[in-house]
Amino acid sequence: MYTICYLSKVSPHLTETQIQEIFDHTYAQNNKKGICGILLHTMGNFFQVLEGDEAYLTDLYENRIKKDPRHHSIFEVIHKEGSDPVFTSYSSRFLTIEDSDALNDIKTYVKKHAVVSSTSDKIARLLNTVEMLTY
Ligand SMILES: Cc1cc2nc3c(=O)[nH]c(=O)nc-3n(C[C@H](O)[C@H](O)[C@H](O)COP(=O)(O)O)c2cc1C
Repeated sequence: MYTICYLSKVSPHLTETQIQEIFDHTYAQNNKKGICGILLHTMGNFFQVLEGDEAYLTDLYENRIKKDPRHHSIFEVIHKEGSDPVFTSYSSRFLTIEDSDALNDIKTYVKKHAVVSSTSDKIARLLNTVEMLTY
């Protein structure tokens, strides 16, 4: 199981509809391919966690996501093999976080999980930071 987590900036002039297209495509495609994790959009930023097959994820991230002109200034936080996936055990699905209730549910789970996992602890702290930018 491989984990990739990053923050990025939404490209200027991207409309709500274009952002929704990214969410819809990501949700459908990742669930089809058995990739778990989350994607959320805050004031001008994306935050994404991806968990799944190493070969598939590194290709997706290096060759498609990183080259996607709809965002820039990607700040990578995690890019490693992890024995303890966070979101796979949460829902076994890829989730798009589109309101504060969904974010709160994820935060509650990740905080509980942080007791046994350093990756969860890192993601819990990142979510707190991301939340300061949002809503
Ligand atoms: C912030 C952001 C996150 C994305 N995350 C994913 C993702 O997790 N899975 C995915 O398949 N595409 C994702 N995409 C879309 C890809 O960058 C790319 O547009 C898509 O994979 C192209 O698919 P195609 O080559 O089949 O047209 C994301 C795009 C952005 C801007």
